[in-house]
Amino acid sequence: MKIAFAKPQLPTEGAVVVGVLEGKVLTPTATSLDAQSGGALGRAIAASRFEGKRDQTLALLAPAGLEASRVLLVGLGKAETLDALAAQAFGGVVVAQLAGSGEAHAWVAVDELDDLPLNGADFAANVALGARLRGYRFDKYQTKQKKEDKPSLKKLTVLVEAQAAAKAAFAPLDQVADGVFLTRDLVSEPANVIHPESLADEAKKLAEIGIDVEVLGEKQMKKLGMGALLGVGQGSARESQLVILRWMGAKDQEAAPVAFVGKGVTFDSGGISLKPGQGMEEMKWDMAGAGAVIGAMRALAGRKAAVNAVGIVGLVENMPSSTAQRPGDVVTSMSGQTIEVINTDAEGRLVLADALFYTQQRFKPKFIVDLATLTGAIIVSLGHEYAGLFASDDDLATAITAAGKAVGEPVWRMPMGEAYDKEIKSDIADMKNVGGREGGSITAAQFLKRFVDGVAWAHLDIAGMAWAKKDKPSCPKGATAFGVRLLDHLVADHYEEK
Ligand code: BES
Ligand code: MN
Ligand code: ZN
Repeated sequence: MKIAFAKPQLPTEGAVVVGVLEGKVLTPTATSLDAQSGGALGRAIAASRFEGKRDQTLALLAPAGLEASRVLLVGLGKAETLDALAAQAFGGVVVAQLAGSGEAHAWVAVDELDDLPLNGADFAANVALGARLRGYRFDKYQTKQKKEDKPSLKKLTVLVEAQAAAKAAFAPLDQVADGVFLTRDLVSEPANVIHPESLADEAKKLAEIGIDVEVLGEKQMKKLGMGALLGVGQGSARESQLVILRWMGAKDQEAAPVAFVGKGVTFDSGGISLKPGQGMEEMKWDMAGAGAVIGAMRALAGRKAAVNAVGIVGLVENMPSSTAQRPGDVVTSMSGQTIEVINTDAEGRLVLADALFYTQQRFKPKFIVDLATLTGAIIVSLGHEYAGLFASDDDLATAITAAGKAVGEPVWRMPMGEAYDKEIKSDIADMKNVGGREGGSITAAQFLKRFVDGVAWAHLDIAGMAWAKKDKPSCPKGATAFGVRLLDHLVADHYEEK
């Protein structure tokens, strides 16, 4: 779908989309369309339950007196609540309503309203962002799609007085959307297509936009002593990889970078502690943390963010085989700490242990945020509404919480502490890789914390957020790319030179 910005005008074809405020208050463009159609909008509203509440819609087809083939009314709610997220939801609703409607072109009128918290340009840019994000599709394997199942909508033009400013405001958001789409693609791909080496190959393509990409194979990781990460991959025919992405956008090339670390288990069968068959196919998206880190780096480089950032992803496939790691095995991590592997299905923390330690040792970053589909227990705690946030640093936790809220990727801080840490004591090694079932996400976070020392660190358990079974305003069901926009916003708000 192509996105364009133009000055307000009366479209002579396609669908015209206008907002209506709560209480059936027509926006200026809606008022003028109503007049030109001899009051058709007012009559349609009177005949329906449409009140202009957020996300309500009402379509008028082939309205007399207008050349447009349809008018779509979209409820905006109250003007003072129309922030960036509401604008994105507006754009998303338009695409949801029109994608398969038969319309090829939608013209979305954005009026300058009183009480609007955003200026017209920013509002329009966010409408466009929401439209783009909602229009995502992953249908490359659907070879028998009929014409009528494919989207009809090819173009969306946002009509706004501040056309040039809107276009300029959209440019960086468009890059962030590219990052989101990259992540959604990677997470959606099946595990026979995306495995550690092919995922590393995808990451290598980011060199085209100025990201420095390094890939370590098993030999190099062995030299570094990454026994925890390598143990997870040792049952797989696929070679484990560690990918290091660097975007040096700050004026001061020597400035300490921010660091993002991702869990990239390209398929999590559980290993010898095999998962039940029911739903196991979902474990193709156990690399969503890595996917988000790669997409976030894509977004930062795409919009040329003035920041030094590193993204490190540990890529492994967790499989059972005669070479697989066994329950009871003791592995030595890069940090030198030993780990008793009680359960081979608690593999993400083993991958992150070495990835985190490597990151802090090599890059001495300002902070580390890791993202991982780490535990089923976080879904028990928070469902599919919030990611779990665990942090050793209150300021970082506050900044992440604010960034998540601003972009609609909410996180909820969970507790940590000594008492939880005791749960992973081992009789034979420095620690074991699982605590009890109770507080499972917290003991997992305590495990990670043992591999970070002297640097501000936060961990996002995104197991409940990486994949959606239902459509959301700016995301169709499937891979969400949760974390990409949060990390981008975190950088923009707190760590970018202005
Ligand atoms: N990748 C899973 C966590 C997961 C489960 C993500 C369900 C999304 C949906 C992780 O590797 C795992 O298997 N965790 C175990 C840990 C347990 C063995 C301590 C879990 O949550 O059951
Ligand atoms: Mn697992
Ligand atoms: Zn896993």
